[in-house]
Amino acid sequence: SSNRESKPKNDLQDLLATLPSEKDWDGAPLYFYKGVWYPVFAIRGALSFQQHFIAQDTDIILASMPKSGTTWLKALTFSVVNRNIYSPKESPLLTTPPHELVRFCEMDLYSKIQLPDIEKLPSPRIFSSHFHYETLPLSIRDSNCKIVYICRNPLDQLVSYFHFARKFERENMEPLSSIDEGFDNVCSGIQCYGPFWDSVLGYWKASIERPDKVLFLKYEDLKEDISSNLKKLGEFLGLPFSEKEEKEGVIEEISKLCSFDNLKDLEVNKTGVFECAGAPNSTFFRKAKVGDWCNYLSPSMAERFGKIVEEKMAR
Ligand code: A3P
Repeated sequence: SSNRESKPKNDLQDLLATLPSEKDWDGAPLYFYKGVWYPVFAIRGALSFQQHFIAQDTDIILASMPKSGTTWLKALTFSVVNRNIYSPKESPLLTTPPHELVRFCEMDLYSKIQLPDIEKLPSPRIFSSHFHYETLPLSIRDSNCKIVYICRNPLDQLVSYFHFARKFERENMEPLSSIDEGFDNVCSGIQCYGPFWDSVLGYWKASIERPDKVLFLKYEDLKEDISSNLKKLGEFLGLPFSEKEEKEGVIEEISKLCSFDNLKDLEVNKTGVFECAGAPNSTFFRKAKVGDWCNYLSPSMAERFGKIVEEKMAR
């Protein structure tokens, strides 16, 4: 019926025509809407998600800037939540990409004209979004659902995104020629779901004000010590690992199952296409190194961007 449908296309075109717009690395436009630079393919879903999503108290929302470890966080959270249903040997992660087990709201679920039928999904429902905290649908902030944010070093995030965006072939769109060409934009906060600092600060502040509601994780911390971060995640979600589970090695099993080396080599992640982004599943697995930026950015670029981020974060 008509109330199950999101806004018609023409309204969207009218809105886009009024918004500031810049080119992303892949040549596709980014649009500046209420403080955030959205990629063109997420705008319809962004409006619909904001307008229609109704959170349940048991929901878990995974939030991030793109290329900050979203895929990893999806795999980890899915595994923690479902550890009593599937043993690691029969985990759906072995046969299904993480992005299909935990779906993006604005880029996937809410991107179609028909609204998604998600009310009756078994709880806890797990969703993901690249929205900033301030722009989340009100019911997410007002309900008791939990939010887990993952943040990554902005230089690595930028380099990872650059490589990701270059994998797309956009019809009639000329990609930027090099990482240098889009760099000024990034320094001004113009990047997919940027400004970076606004995304991070919003969730950081929320995690301090409401630590039972928002958990703030860092990609680099997870790399350094996955076990204690998994414990933190379990506790935060109200699903702490028992002593018995710890002794039986459940935490290690989940870390191994979700590790980069394991997921990247699974047939399901090596082949196939992630429909909503039009990208091969394999593009979500590149190097997973901390500090890879130094192979692509000059020291002076890193210093310039580092200073800007630092200044903005000190607000
Ligand atoms: P690199 O491009 O630096 O390799 P997202 O999941 O938010 O799109 O982020 C993708 C980045 O996370 C990529 O970084 C990718 O290689 C890395 N990544 C994907 N799966 C991972 C995992 N299981 N563990 C650690 N890093 C992972």
